[in-house]
Amino acid sequence: MKHISVLLEPTINALNIKEDGVYVDCTLGYAGHSSAILKKLKKGKLYAFDQDIDARVYSENVLKNIGNNYEIIPSNFVNLKEELEKRGVTSIDGIMFDLGVSSPQLDDAQRGFSFHLDAPLDMRMDRTLKLTAKEVVNNYSFNDLYRIIKDYGEEKYAKQIARAIEKHREEKEIATTLELKDIISQAVPAKYKRLTHPARRTFQAIRIEVNKELSILPKALNDAIDLLKKDGVIAVITFHSLEDKICQEVFKERSKEDMVLKGMPNVPDEYKPELKILKKIKPSKEELEINKRSRSATLRIAIKQK
Ligand SMILES: C[S@@+](CC[C@H](N)C(=O)[O-])C[C@H]1O[C@@H](n2cnc3c(N)ncnc32)[C@H](O)[C@@H]1O
Repeated sequence: MKHISVLLEPTINALNIKEDGVYVDCTLGYAGHSSAILKKLKKGKLYAFDQDIDARVYSENVLKNIGNNYEIIPSNFVNLKEELEKRGVTSIDGIMFDLGVSSPQLDDAQRGFSFHLDAPLDMRMDRTLKLTAKEVVNNYSFNDLYRIIKDYGEEKYAKQIARAIEKHREEKEIATTLELKDIISQAVPAKYKRLTHPARRTFQAIRIEVNKELSILPKALNDAIDLLKKDGVIAVITFHSLEDKICQEVFKERSKEDMVLKGMPNVPDEYKPELKILKKIKPSKEELEINKRSRSATLRIAIKQK
């Protein structure tokens, strides 16, 4: 399986894994980070979430060769707190998120994530859900399409692209990735085509909509912080400016200082802000050389102080 984990070493170092601790990987994927966590655990336990059955099946085979002190949870990480509570887990030592899709998901033509590969317009990470990219492209109003492409894709030709989609679907349903790619390519100026692939941002936007990637994030991050013990660590790898912004906002909100005590020496633990934010980490030059996909990644880390 061609998958290189992004920011693996800095994430594992940040989690500061204790061999008897309880850790959660919210985005198991192809078990890169989870394997590294599990290798460091002796009496501890790893809980790993993924909403994609292919990722879970693959990773089960990887993790079972490392140890048996793990459980793979087949759920969206938005249900993190509820799923852990069902298992009697209410406090944890560390938690991580490596957001977005994995390279194997992108490279599997049938999943419909890639504009390079011909496939039905799908883009669901969880294929038990109903909303597909085809539904978004063919049934969303012009205004909704425009908003999604502009906001989630940060696409400057969002209006032209949404209009072109609207026009084409009046004649014939848009069914495949390559049909959509061609519609987008024809809707944008020729000079734009030379700078970047014109479909990249729109495909990203539709994927974010189908999987509700941004709307679930504030709840999931806040629940993750609630679950952390004192000195517990949260590590979040983002690939998109909007998801990174959400992460920054949640961290900021939970690290607000008491204005009266601000700047005072020896503040007792109970008056400290809940979270201490560490410096963000970007991939090293060496990592960028071996994995181009890591280019847009940012690792944000925070420690629970009480
Ligand atoms: C970037 S990959 C993770 C790669 C992993 N860290 C590794 O090293 O192999 C993201 C994974 O998280 C899953 N995922 C994304 N959003 C999710 C969500 N809201 N709930 C559960 N799983 C999610 C995807 O299905 C994908 O397998």
